[in-house]
Amino acid sequence: MTTRLLAIHGSARSRGNSRRLLDQVLETVGELRPDVEVEVVRAYEARVDPCMACGACEEDEIGCQRLGDGWHDIESALRAADILVIASPVYFMGLPAPLKAIVDRLQALWWYRERGGQVATNEGPFRRSGLILTAAGNDKVFAPSRRVIKAAFNTLGFELVGEVMAGDLDGPDGAGDGTELLDAARALGRTLVE
Ligand SMILES: Cc1cc2nc3c(=O)[nH]c(=O)nc-3n(C[C@H](O)[C@H](O)[C@H](O)COP(=O)(O)O)c2cc1C
Repeated sequence: MTTRLLAIHGSARSRGNSRRLLDQVLETVGELRPDVEVEVVRAYEARVDPCMACGACEEDEIGCQRLGDGWHDIESALRAADILVIASPVYFMGLPAPLKAIVDRLQALWWYRERGGQVATNEGPFRRSGLILTAAGNDKVFAPSRRVIKAAFNTLGFELVGEVMAGDLDGPDGAGDGTELLDAARALGRTLVE
């Protein structure tokens, strides 16, 4: 049975701090479990529209019923994943807008779960998740985004097994200087598959 890892990258920078740390996770997973199928979705390229609160998902439906944007591929991938990693910078104390749009569209699966539905479609042995957040600040700046992502993981039925909160990173190359940070990201990769 294939083990699928889905990573969602939330930064506007395709090659910044959060991506550097995410790549350490993916490299480690690749070394330990070359059989894992890896997909990386960039939120800024996914073209997911915001939730319009149309209410259709509160009825007898599975997931969001709105068509015409990039949501449905991501919804299927999220439901089928065994491992989910979200890597994102903090923007204005929260998540960057395209990533927040993805999280908000989970509302439909939240309703489905409320009605007793089974969100996960994978049959694998585990549903583990990891979180990487980067920021220019430190300490308190992570809490709001962390809370939102934890709610998303709960809705999808993922256990959060490890996280890297990387502060004091302003320019795009900051994460490259911190051996400790890169080690922490590699440790997260190990936790996700061991
Ligand atoms: C629009 C925008 C808003 C930001 N808001 C915050 C913030 O509220 N708090 C903070 O500590 N850093 C903030 N930052 C800094 C980024 O979180 C930080 O540079 C991060 O390391 C970028 O990661 P990346 O290289 O993966 O994009 C902001 C950056 C941008 C572009």
